[in-house]
Amino acid sequence: MSNAYDIAYHRSLTDPAEFWGDAAKEISWYKPWDKVLDDTNPPFYRWFTGALVNTCYNAVDRHVEAGRGDQAAILYDSPVVGIVRSITYRQLQDQTARLAGVLAGLGVGKGDRVIVYMPMVPEALVAMLASARLGAIHCVVFGGFAAAELATRINDAKPKVIVSASCGIEGQKTIAYKPLLDHAIELAVHKPGHTVILQRPQVSAAMTEGRDVDWEASLATAVPHACVPVAATDPLYILYTSGTTGQPKGVVRDNGGHMVALKWTMSNIYKVKPGEVYWAASDVGWVVGHSYIVYAPLLHGCTTVVYEGKPVGTPDAGAFWRMIAQHKIETLFTAPTAFRAIKREDPEALLLKNYDLGHFRTLFLAGERSDPDTLQWAERHLHVPVIDHWWQTETGWAIAANCIGLHSFPVKHGSPTKAVPGWDVQVLDEGHHACKPGQTGALVVKLPLPPGALITLWNADQRFEDSYLYEFPGYYKTADAGYIDEDGYVYVMSRTDDIINVAGHRLSTGAMEEVLASHPDVAECAVIGVHDTMKGQLPLGFLVLKAGVSKSHEQILKEVVTLVRERIGPVAAFKTATVVKRLPKTRSGKILRGTMQKIADHEDFKMPATIDDPAILEEIEEDLTAIGYAKAREKTDL
Ligand code: COA
Ligand code: AMP
Repeated sequence: MSNAYDIAYHRSLTDPAEFWGDAAKEISWYKPWDKVLDDTNPPFYRWFTGALVNTCYNAVDRHVEAGRGDQAAILYDSPVVGIVRSITYRQLQDQTARLAGVLAGLGVGKGDRVIVYMPMVPEALVAMLASARLGAIHCVVFGGFAAAELATRINDAKPKVIVSASCGIEGQKTIAYKPLLDHAIELAVHKPGHTVILQRPQVSAAMTEGRDVDWEASLATAVPHACVPVAATDPLYILYTSGTTGQPKGVVRDNGGHMVALKWTMSNIYKVKPGEVYWAASDVGWVVGHSYIVYAPLLHGCTTVVYEGKPVGTPDAGAFWRMIAQHKIETLFTAPTAFRAIKREDPEALLLKNYDLGHFRTLFLAGERSDPDTLQWAERHLHVPVIDHWWQTETGWAIAANCIGLHSFPVKHGSPTKAVPGWDVQVLDEGHHACKPGQTGALVVKLPLPPGALITLWNADQRFEDSYLYEFPGYYKTADAGYIDEDGYVYVMSRTDDIINVAGHRLSTGAMEEVLASHPDVAECAVIGVHDTMKGQLPLGFLVLKAGVSKSHEQILKEVVTLVRERIGPVAAFKTATVVKRLPKTRSGKILRGTMQKIADHEDFKMPATIDDPAILEEIEEDLTAIGYAKAREKTDL
């Protein structure tokens, strides 16, 4: 073994208890664990059983006690409304303790759920931390989801309280959140006892007396609440993510293992020191936001950045450079789509010349496959290492990365480098045999998963087993396909299920199909993800109409687009659909979505041996050409 990465990787797999037990010394515990890895109830492994801890204490109070009280914990930058604000660790402690006091007064205690439906404002972090402070379980819902999606999450999580705001600033638009929240509560069967509403000057939310509590007024008189010790194995949060049906999966993360893993990543993957400014340009509604806007940087004593803007249009494609220069950001983590958006508007990165990025050290990319073009563009213009790393909502942190804190490996474009310590990544074929180097198969992780990975799905242990552990016994199925090369570099090529990745946002085509199928004129439908030069993928719908429908196709298409926006939300970016006579299927009736996607993207495909009627593929190709995909798309793209 020649380098620190090899040593750490080997140790993490041969003696996980010793490896993570060591890492756990970085966390402050009320009571130490009886066991680092509890494997008495497989496949439900637990980390640090017997220990008592509090996540908010470790992310906030501990730093104040250690002398970081006056350091900025959060830098908030909202370019459209022109606000830049810094919140010190001491102020964060005060606000968090006060909000915890308010929540406790509304009946929230250990194990209760608190939904956070907030835009990118520091108060979103305060809400998450206040929930953690009480030992409650937060469940953040991304602002781009529709009221119906929020209602689904309310019904599943059954929150006592929902914390929200009057509005969010989304690009140049102001989005009123409260009407969406009110509508979601109306739709939901479960009714939260209270909401706490942050009134922002841009929009004033109407309040329901007796139910809605004003953030500012209640915090002003609140009694600060102390951190409540919880079991390391108790849930810290639920984060819903797209599954293969309209019913999202509630990924559950614990307190102890989660902190140990995230704290470890800051030095070993990101090579960041306490006190540095770390920016994850994502949203608190996504896992990247949970792990790298909130928990990891704060656990590490860094300054985290809350940016309520976009990479382009707020005001221009120099927004990220302005942020890095103004806030002295050392490390940036974002999705490749953000860089594709910047590259499209400013291909020569001319706006970069206006800013001094001398202190900027590393760019990390994740959330979707990093196309080599974008990665090289960033390398060429930024002159810093650009590090792709692979992870999922379920894993909570990177499965594969170039762990520059341990050892910098040469970058191979198209690969997120090697499996990270803790993750025994393997490639299996359909017969569950190990693939040879270079051979594509299912990317799986040998159990037990390291700390910080999901421990189950909320109220759905069986679904957890069925979704992730059933197909490859003894392994976690990532649902990504790819290969590992001779040097141990991992390549993540595609999903094996119906998940698509639109602008770094994870969406289920199955969920969109459920919405389309609910339209009264639709007999059958399919949704596929087609290539998009900026967003990576975009959903495209196919509708077969019921016999005798008299409405125009144009009208029906408009209606289904509106329906998806209303039921799932604008984030689905479902804007294109077409009416077809028939859908191509196998003889057993399975829709050939993969083949349709290849036709749309003008990729080579093999005629499936089990196809029922090959002529339908020609019809589909003609339909796709008519709306600018398939052959026509190739012509316009060239
Ligand atoms: N609240 C309300 N609406 C939201 C929203 C939110 N928090 N986030 C997105 N939306 C809306 C957008 O306004 C847009 O609505 P529209 O159809 O009316 O225009 C729609 O959802 C799609 O949003 P998005 O996919 O983000 O597209 P965009 O064109 O607005 O921006 C990018 C494209 C690439 C600039 C943007 O997605 C981006 O910065 N992505 C990279 C970072 C990131 O968030 N990654 C996620 C995980 S790391
Ligand atoms: P999410 O749960 O939203 O984080 O999305 C997870 C999925 O995004 C993964 O299963 C992959 O399909 C994809 N993904 C994330 N990061 C990468 C990456 N670096 N390379 C390739 N695919 C990625």
